[in-house]
Amino acid sequence: MADSASDLPLVVGIGGTIGGVSSTERALAIALEAAAREGFRTRMFGGADMAQLPLYDPKATTRTAQERDFVDTVRQASALIIASPGYHGSISGVVKNALDLLEETARDPHRPYLADMPVGLIATAYGWQATGSTIAALRSIVHALRGWPTPFAAAVNTQLTKFDAEGGASDPAVIEQLSLVGQQVARFAPIAVPHG
Ligand SMILES: Cc1cc2nc3c(=O)[nH]c(=O)nc-3n(C[C@H](O)[C@H](O)[C@H](O)COP(=O)(O)O)c2cc1C
Repeated sequence: MADSASDLPLVVGIGGTIGGVSSTERALAIALEAAAREGFRTRMFGGADMAQLPLYDPKATTRTAQERDFVDTVRQASALIIASPGYHGSISGVVKNALDLLEETARDPHRPYLADMPVGLIATAYGWQATGSTIAALRSIVHALRGWPTPFAAAVNTQLTKFDAEGGASDPAVIEQLSLVGQQVARFAPIAVPHG
C-alpha cells in the first residue's frame, strides 16, 4: 500500500492479483506514479489489500475496518485508476468484489458512487483478446457507477511485456501508455465537480 501524506488531491489505485508478484499491480503503480508527477498524492489498494475484504454482503449491518478504510478512501479521492487482469475474458473476482463494495456509497449525498469522477483503466492478460474484453467490462462498470472512464485505457499483454520491481517494464511504449492513463485522470480531475 503506497501512501504519501499531504494536502494534495488524491488518486486511488484499485487493482492487482493475489498470491505474490503481480504484473497488474506493477502496471497500476506506473500509472499512479504518473499521476503523482501531475501533483496528486496516491494510494494503492493492491491484491493483498483486496484479499482482506470479505465477500461483499449488501445486507450486512457492520463493516470490517478494511472495508471502511477502502470505502472512506474512495470517498476522499478526486480520481481513480482501476487495473484488472483478464480472467476468463473479463475482470477478476477479486477486483469485482472490491468494486461491489462501492455500493456503500450509493446514498452518499455529496457524491453517490463515482459520480463525476475520472477513472483510468488498465487491463493485463496473457494475450490480446482478454485485454479488450476486460477493458470493455471495466468501462461498463464505471458507467454503472456514474464515473467517467478516461479516453485512453491501457491494454498490457503480459506474454510480451515484463515488469520489474523498480517500476520499469521491458517495453518503453507500455510505460508511456500506463503513464498516459495516470496523466489523463490527473488532468481531468480538477474540472470534475468537487465533493464534500
Ligand atoms: C483464473 C485465470 C484466468 C485467466 N484467464 C485469462 C484469459 O481469459 N485470457 C488471457 O489472455 N489470460 C488469462 N489469464 C492470464 C492473466 O490474465 C495474466 O497472466 C495476467 O497478466 C495476470 O496478472 P498478474 O501478473 O497481475 O497476476 C488468466 C489467469 C488466471 C489465473
